[in-house]
Amino acid sequence: MTMPQGHVAHLGYAMLDTPDLDATVWFFENILGMTETRRVDGMSFLRAYDDYEECSIIACQAPTSGIRRTALRASSERALEERAVAVQDAGRPGRWEDGIAGRGRTFVTTDPDGHQLALYYDTVWYEAPEDLAAGLKNQAQAKPNRGIGVRRFDHINFLAARPEDNAAFHIDVLGARPTEQIRMDDGRIAAKWLSFGQKSYDVVYTEDWTGGSGRLHHLAFATDTREEILRAADLCLDQGVHIETGPHKHAIQQTFFLYVFEPGGNRIEMCNPLTRLVLAPDWPLVTWTEPERKRGQAWGLGTIETFHTHGTPPMEGQDTQAYRPTGMLGKRPSGDARR
Ligand SMILES: [Fe+2]
Repeated sequence: MTMPQGHVAHLGYAMLDTPDLDATVWFFENILGMTETRRVDGMSFLRAYDDYEECSIIACQAPTSGIRRTALRASSERALEERAVAVQDAGRPGRWEDGIAGRGRTFVTTDPDGHQLALYYDTVWYEAPEDLAAGLKNQAQAKPNRGIGVRRFDHINFLAARPEDNAAFHIDVLGARPTEQIRMDDGRIAAKWLSFGQKSYDVVYTEDWTGGSGRLHHLAFATDTREEILRAADLCLDQGVHIETGPHKHAIQQTFFLYVFEPGGNRIEMCNPLTRLVLAPDWPLVTWTEPERKRGQAWGLGTIETFHTHGTPPMEGQDTQAYRPTGMLGKRPSGDARR
């Protein structure tokens, strides 16, 4: 058995639950500028313009919001097989099933907090139809002239009762490396950022104060420029999409950000981390202290209270439907963008 580093290549796709699929798809198409490739059995397959696979988000009609599955692409068939064995050796559950959305056979497990994780290697590369084809052969699809046109699904931030235990699973079993963390005064790790490649993070675990399990803090989508995030803020303002915080710059990881709630209640980040890479093989884990964390974001913006209280699915008493955008009430999602 080889060491796990390098065995996971990148985030593959997330299955996101929503109680209002039409409204959620409207958001992904008209705010983020993603493209729906098809809709089958209550699932919408959505792609960022630079996705080389069919989709990176599968929005699923469900009774409530939250994260159903997070899939990771292994770096080879052998890496997939070895990680599946390692997951089971670590005492986690596991099963093989047929892949979806062009992916081959898939190994499904959970992290210690109960989030469903899936590993696959075989995949089908996306071929754009003629009307969506890019001008250059090294780009999967033309950038849509709609919404802000996110480039890719960038990272996922999970809520978890014990971020350290879940991070250890990713490090020891899946081969992630930790790049930054928050250590509270009492010694507990309140959040940890993990990377599978040279992006400074792909997966984050943040402490869930509610006592829930398997919940989502946010999904993040990378833009080409910071200006597109400013454009997104105006677009959300015009369309009545709830802006939670930003635009601003994080101190941790230095990501330029905007956080909004999509109509299904899930928190979505638009982020611009594209220029920051961790190239050093011996990168030292950066630890932020509790007093440093309390200083807020990089340019002084305080951390908004809902950042610590809102997650999906909602806990009892949280009303995520209060965040339904006003701009789309009474409108059908724009059908002209569907392919
Ligand atoms: Fe984020």
